[in-house]
Amino acid sequence: MAGKKRIKRIAVMTGGGDCPGLNAVIRAVTKTAISRYGIEVWGIEDGFLGLIEGRMHPLQYEDVSNILTVGGTILGSCNKSNPFAFHVSAGKGTRKKDVSDICVHNLEHNRIDALICIGGDGTMASASAFAKKGVTVMGVPKTIDNDLWGTEVTFGFNTAVNTAADALDKVHTTASSHHRVMIVEVMGRYAGWIALYAGAASGADVILIPEIPYRFDAIAEYIQARSKKGKRFSIIAVAEGAKPEGGQAFVAKILKDSPDPIRLGGISAVLAEQLETLTGQSCRAVILGHVQRGGSPCPYDRTLATQFGHHVVELLAKGKRNRLVVIKNGQLDSIPLHQAAGRIKTVPKNHPLVLAAKAVNTSFGV
Ligand code: F6P
Repeated sequence: MAGKKRIKRIAVMTGGGDCPGLNAVIRAVTKTAISRYGIEVWGIEDGFLGLIEGRMHPLQYEDVSNILTVGGTILGSCNKSNPFAFHVSAGKGTRKKDVSDICVHNLEHNRIDALICIGGDGTMASASAFAKKGVTVMGVPKTIDNDLWGTEVTFGFNTAVNTAADALDKVHTTASSHHRVMIVEVMGRYAGWIALYAGAASGADVILIPEIPYRFDAIAEYIQARSKKGKRFSIIAVAEGAKPEGGQAFVAKILKDSPDPIRLGGISAVLAEQLETLTGQSCRAVILGHVQRGGSPCPYDRTLATQFGHHVVELLAKGKRNRLVVIKNGQLDSIPLHQAAGRIKTVPKNHPLVLAAKAVNTSFGV
């Protein structure tokens, strides 16, 4: 792996949870590298796991044809394989081991001059650590959660918002027909971007996000006030990471072998039970889950992913190293990879969409 020497062969990998638009990036990287610069492209299988196990193969131009609109990743992904703290068997259990030297060896063995990591905060933390070891690494920001620090938007987010908004629109009919409170729980980890955008887009009456802790009684009062005005139903968009004032987010499970072990979820059922008791109104909870990560990327994500994939190769060709491509002030740009490593971007309490939603009388449960 070379400092500023000319790049002849690059490898691309997709890390963390899958996300609509991954294939669009792989396609743009591969086509730009081959046709513009004569750079060879290899694909690493199953994220960092494939890098650890030396599973990688050449990608030809034709291999990335017809994948622009396809969800998931043709390379496979893994959100359990941090090369700097990899779980290896030890007795009846496992212990963490730094296997990053094996990864560096596998890159050198296959004469890879630069590694392009498409991923979120966890992937960027590992990517940045590889850069410190002398590997030439570039990052492309992916996540439906839109929570990667340093970029205004990640690809995948808009598709997830479309899916969540569609679900919120659809529960409207049952809510109004049965005079119910319908609660839709969306993903997002510790950030409320999906709940905020999908909730605002479909006119949810209540939006609950981790950044603005809620009070059960405030939500109940709001629902009752709507009922008194003749609005006998309410729609709630709740982020999986939303939490009550002074309380914690609801944990669905803990995956011991994952670098990011906590899986949030279950708040919608708790809300439904509490609100039914407090308001006397019938409540139902829907958890959207991985539906939000699935399916074809929306046109916005296809085009954003294509620009990211093209830009990252252009940067490499121009001699830039260890950068994360980002959207800054609405424009394509890049920042040093280490700046974004392991950092997340949450919703500011005074975000313009929070203010606009409040102005149209949306409750944030406070
Ligand atoms: O980061 C993407 C995401 O879908 C989160 O919104 C969610 O909390 C998590 O991944 C779920 O992870 P898993 O696929 O391991 O259940």
